[in-house]
Amino acid sequence: MQYENLRLEIDNGIALLTISREKALNALNSQTILELRHFFSDTGRLNPEIKGVVLTGAGEKAFVAGADITEFSGLDSAQGAALAQRGQDVFFLIERFPKPVVAAVNGFALGGGCELAMACHIRVAGEKARFGQPEVNLGLIPGYGGTQRLIQYIGKGKALELLLTADMIDANEAHRLGLANYVVPAGEEVAKARELLLKIAGKAPLAIARVIECANAYFAEGVDGFAREVAAFGECCDTADFKEGAAAFVEKRKANFQGQ
Ligand code: CAA
Repeated sequence: MQYENLRLEIDNGIALLTISREKALNALNSQTILELRHFFSDTGRLNPEIKGVVLTGAGEKAFVAGADITEFSGLDSAQGAALAQRGQDVFFLIERFPKPVVAAVNGFALGGGCELAMACHIRVAGEKARFGQPEVNLGLIPGYGGTQRLIQYIGKGKALELLLTADMIDANEAHRLGLANYVVPAGEEVAKARELLLKIAGKAPLAIARVIECANAYFAEGVDGFAREVAAFGECCDTADFKEGAAAFVEKRKANFQGQ
């Protein structure tokens, strides 16, 4: 698929995926959602060269300022629900992506933008980043998982305050609340995200995928995360990477994992 709104650069095993609609503050229109779906179900998943993904927004002002509001006019309830479902499906693809995804939040992360950052596994915020769920200003609610994931990250009381007031919080407050993993000087978000991903790229890929899966199992309805962990631990024992990791420890050398 030819991407119109995503820019993909791969360097040293790390994909830098940039949402590039700078004039609209990188708002997620339906084409961008389609392209994100393609990357996280196809290109990014199947390309063995890609060990991790940095997701960011073009320009200095915004990560993503939300779903594209210009596409909302005239939506009826069925169309609105379908739009929310399409977005949620893509954000689940990101959350369940078997390789680590780090959001480099370089500015406004509002509405669908905050939800997109929350679907990633780790968030690095630049000091100019602003997070918020302002949908009630539009007579809407978050539709891409915001009412659920914000509670997962910062707890129900504070999440309800942000969801009900539509207030934005800055990077330091997001860090204090546990929404942002790191705050870095503006312009250094991608470098910090890459540094984290390069560290993870040295670990066993099949184990990394299972860590992500088990962490998600904690929140999945009807799934016993502890039981999934037991099964995944057993699966790891069957991998060549486990044998290599254990041998490297005994031989006091760095493990060379092949993802097998
Ligand atoms: N959708 C479409 N266009 C958007 C947009 C969005 N979410 N956010 C910004 N833009 C556009 C503006 O319309 C403007 O375009 P023009 O130059 O053609 O007029 C351009 O981006 C620059 O924006 P501003 O002039 O508004 O910039 P600002 O610095 O004055 O304000 C802002 C920045 C506070 C982020 C403001 O743009 C804003 O409030 N944006 C909307 C944020 C929002 O409500 N997001 C939630 C969307 S709904 C949603 O996401 C639902 C969901 O969960 C699925």
